[in-house]
Amino acid sequence: MNFWANKNISLIVSGGIAAYRACDLIRIFRKDGAKVSVVTTKSALEFVTELSFQALSGEHVNSDLFSPIQADGMDHIHQTKTSDLMVIAPATANLIAKMAMGLADDLATATILAYDGPKLVAPAMNSRMWLNPATQRNVAQLKQDGVQFIDPQSGSLACGEDGEGRLAPIEHIVEAAQSALSKKILAGHRILITAGPTHEALDPVRYISNHSSGKMGLSICRAALYAGAEVVLIHGPINLEPPPGAELHPVTSAQEMYDQSMAAWEAGCSGAILTAAVGDFRPVQQKSDKIKKNSDSDKLTMELTVNPDILATLAAKKSGGVVVGFAAETGKSLERGREKMARKNCDLLVINDLMEPGSGFATDTNRVTLLHNSGKEEPWPLLSKDKVAEKLIQTIATLLNGVKQNG
Ligand code: PMT
Repeated sequence: MNFWANKNISLIVSGGIAAYRACDLIRIFRKDGAKVSVVTTKSALEFVTELSFQALSGEHVNSDLFSPIQADGMDHIHQTKTSDLMVIAPATANLIAKMAMGLADDLATATILAYDGPKLVAPAMNSRMWLNPATQRNVAQLKQDGVQFIDPQSGSLACGEDGEGRLAPIEHIVEAAQSALSKKILAGHRILITAGPTHEALDPVRYISNHSSGKMGLSICRAALYAGAEVVLIHGPINLEPPPGAELHPVTSAQEMYDQSMAAWEAGCSGAILTAAVGDFRPVQQKSDKIKKNSDSDKLTMELTVNPDILATLAAKKSGGVVVGFAAETGKSLERGREKMARKNCDLLVINDLMEPGSGFATDTNRVTLLHNSGKEEPWPLLSKDKVAEKLIQTIATLLNGVKQNG
């Protein structure tokens, strides 16, 4: 089932130019199946009409404590009983200050004060207002009270200035909301994830690589973060933006990925999930000049050597924790996967067949079979890569409950 299905979001919108971006937020939450109930401050309606919020949310929208739309007249209490999460976006300096003080002088602030579930605040304002010690003091107070923030970003602001204060990207707010609602089954665990392809340079302009986009690895990275893990993401050259919150180590070659992975593992990780399509071979000699065509021959011979195997090395080194490999196969996938599992000696191996429609490189979906080193085999149906990641993280969390940490 979609994560957002049957989730109730209470969205509080306050009055800044970024109020229009709350419309996108409502659209994305609803597209994914959530119910969104909107309360606005009076000033938010100076920027976006009540009708826009009503049309997008499919719900009545209110901004007035004394013109209730609920039969019992208790609009500020009503949402607190039904919401799974309260998102305050955009949050102005004024609203943040009122929240920090516990004021409740309108419907928005009364609703916030009456809500004792998880709250996620996405501020947006002029950078000097954001950096003002009063605002920073209020933010610190709210963080101490357990309110989560998704900090504003730097860039050009509506006032024409450049600085910190832009509302965080909507996708980051949605990710933070999903994280806030996820069970922290990997809290206290540091997980190493590899993702994407590697480039094995032949000369300064050419390389050997593969079609990995990094999607599978980033889905796992996101799922691990949602589950409360600290994530070290070591990724090859990819065109996708890694989720906020992971410790990033971009690399190019297999040797660099190996070195970074060993360093991260030795620094202490409880799990490693190796989704990267690591180049198996590299040229014995990388030419320092561009290789020229030889007019006497239509052939080029180049000697390759095998790259170090990150998965096999980690599995051999581990004194605790869980090491998970992926196997990209092009036929006889179960048979070859079993052989790979035995050879690399990991705890779990996720087999995907690159020839299967909707599976493997660059797709949003994957059909995988999960092999356990106990011999258990679980064929999973075709799922989104996000769902594969979520199920894999659940399995790893179950295993980690029973083993001690490496390092
Ligand atoms: O990135 P996407 O476009 O979303 O595609 C996802 C994927 C197909 C790349 C992913 O699902 C996948 O299958 N990743 C593993 C790809 C791979 O290199 O498979 P392999 O069978 O060659 O390697 C087996 C395992 O050993 C893998 O975990 C790999 O990371 C690891 N390995 C391989 C070689 C090496 N030198 N070091 C390694 O650690």
